[in-house]
Amino acid sequence: MKLIVQRCAPLSGDVRAPGDKSISHRAAMLSAIAHGISRIEGFLQCDDCLRTGEALQRLGVRIEPIGVDTLEVHGAGLRGLREPDRPLDMGNSGTGMRLLMGLVAGRPMSVTFTGDESLSGRPMDRIAKPLELMGARVEGQGERCTPPVTVHGGDLGGIEYSPPMASAQVKSAVLLAGLSAVGETTVVEVAHSRDHTERMLAAMGADIEVEGLRVTLRPGRELKPNSMRIPSDLSSAAFLLAAGLLVDGSDVIAADTLLNPTRTGLLDALEQMNASIAVGETREIAGEPVGDIRARSGALQATEIGGDLIPLMIDEVPLLAVVATQAEGTTVIRDAEELRVKESDRLAAMAEVLGAMGADVIEREDGLEITGPTPLHGATVDSRGDHRVAMSAAIAGLIAEGETTIEDAECITTSYPSFTEDLRKLGADCIEESDE
Ligand code: S3P
Repeated sequence: MKLIVQRCAPLSGDVRAPGDKSISHRAAMLSAIAHGISRIEGFLQCDDCLRTGEALQRLGVRIEPIGVDTLEVHGAGLRGLREPDRPLDMGNSGTGMRLLMGLVAGRPMSVTFTGDESLSGRPMDRIAKPLELMGARVEGQGERCTPPVTVHGGDLGGIEYSPPMASAQVKSAVLLAGLSAVGETTVVEVAHSRDHTERMLAAMGADIEVEGLRVTLRPGRELKPNSMRIPSDLSSAAFLLAAGLLVDGSDVIAADTLLNPTRTGLLDALEQMNASIAVGETREIAGEPVGDIRARSGALQATEIGGDLIPLMIDEVPLLAVVATQAEGTTVIRDAEELRVKESDRLAAMAEVLGAMGADVIEREDGLEITGPTPLHGATVDSRGDHRVAMSAAIAGLIAEGETTIEDAECITTSYPSFTEDLRKLGADCIEESDE
């Protein structure tokens, strides 16, 4: 499928982006090992989260869809998990694969995980290493333990582990394994990464303690079922907000959006750029802060981002690169080498996309340098099968002269199936065209 985007007139309106992807994965997984029935409303119906749901069903968990976006998960405890009769295909989902590897590691069974071409090239050694230290055996391909990967689970012992990179996926996999270990498990992070696993485990009754960068889980308590409504995903809403900032004369509101401080790095970076972003009153949904965010177009200043801010906006860096093309001066993004091992090499992909559209962009080993403001022009660009690259290119297309064609755009369903529809609600001119 191709996505064809035209330069657009001012955008306006109030949109609620769909449920948060990270929280949807975790809600399904933790409900699956709780004791009792959990009702999850606003579960994100994207390819990645649906894969997690299917994988849990293959692990013996009863999950019933109700209506459009509600799931009823019949948790039977960790002991309710059964060895699946075939490999679990996690599609494009790194989060699904990595967290489930941790979840099954303490069960006496062997589980093989496979994925699509992109996921099959992604490193699982970062998960294999701590799980092996805990007592599991993990077999993958080559030095970086790429999928297909098999976890031979069994008796685990708690560890204290310091992952070399700030990664919520690694932290979560170790904590989930820690639920079935003997003794306590501690993860010490190098910088804060998203903390949804910790929040949800605490809400469901686990014995978990967070002290700065140190998280300690003591196993033994049964998890209580958890009924929740999933807040709107800031990582998806970010595209609508960026469109509001970039398209002259626009005024866009992203309603009910997750404002967890481990996810709002983009808002901090935009503030540094003098962007007109206003966050309304926050309220709490399912232990997570939520509020409306309003973005209005206006002049932007270049900024420098790096260090501890990067993990707090890890999935929004490609989009920030688009915004930077319209800011006065040189925006420097550094310490972002983790972007090279996401669904694609996002530094290379964004340098290529924005370069093709006329931006002044230099790719560095650990980031990008973008000098603006530069008028963009339409081009035919390749998403590399990466949803966030495809959507970032679409936002660039809204301000580019002429027409922008994003090839290989079906990947958008990985995280935000209603992306085109939501942009159109705001007044954008974009259509999906099948490849035939
Ligand atoms: C995620 C963590 C991040 C992020 C991914 C979702 C999660 O990955 O990029 O899209 O839900 O835990 P890392 O923890 O590997 O940085």
